[in-house]
Amino acid sequence: MKIYPRPEPGDQPTLLHPPYASTVRRAPVEPPILLPHTLSELTGPVFGDSPIGEVDNDLTRQHAGDPIGERIIVAGRVIDEDGHAIPHTLIELWQANAAGRYAHAVDNHTAPLDPNFTGAGRTLTDEHGNYRFVTIKPGAYPWRNHPNAWRPAHIHFSLFGPCFITRLVTQMYFPHDPLMPYDPVSQSIPNACARERLVSKFDIDLTEPEWALGYRFDFVLRGRDATPFEGQR
Ligand SMILES: [Fe+2]
Repeated sequence: MKIYPRPEPGDQPTLLHPPYASTVRRAPVEPPILLPHTLSELTGPVFGDSPIGEVDNDLTRQHAGDPIGERIIVAGRVIDEDGHAIPHTLIELWQANAAGRYAHAVDNHTAPLDPNFTGAGRTLTDEHGNYRFVTIKPGAYPWRNHPNAWRPAHIHFSLFGPCFITRLVTQMYFPHDPLMPYDPVSQSIPNACARERLVSKFDIDLTEPEWALGYRFDFVLRGRDATPFEGQR
């Protein structure tokens, strides 16, 4: 049975990060108790067996027309801490549209909705752990955490991996976003190198002429180079 190391101190978000206001209400007041992993955590997971649709990984083709905004390609690999591919694993993605608005009932930002953009997708990695999405670059949006609070442009991801404790929910950011230093969500990760692992890299080889810019983002499930988890667990 594989042994999964605990995260390095500072590599994952702190449970209590007062600038990220909701952590004040939800962070435990007692320190966590580490328990040995159980068999049910080290096996599975089982996810729904509904087939992946043809356009599930292309968020620009899910409606009758083209969505507004900058078309981008987001691709990379899902690997473990030793660089071994994690094949045939489910990746789900959700995001705001180009104007910074989610197609969600409780998003009341005044930015416009896009009838041609839902902002949700999913795919499976191939046998080498590769994945690829086509989507629209999301806009920044306000979130009322503090005065003049804006989230940097980001894409939410959920991955399953080979077992329950490799489950990862995280956010991918874009290079050189001026909002990053003001974002308490990403800044709740103490280690600057770990924070940097959440920033995608512009990739000219992934970029397609006359079509779309490419951003590479690799996921590392658990271990010393693990992709930081969103918020807390
Ligand atoms: Fe978001």
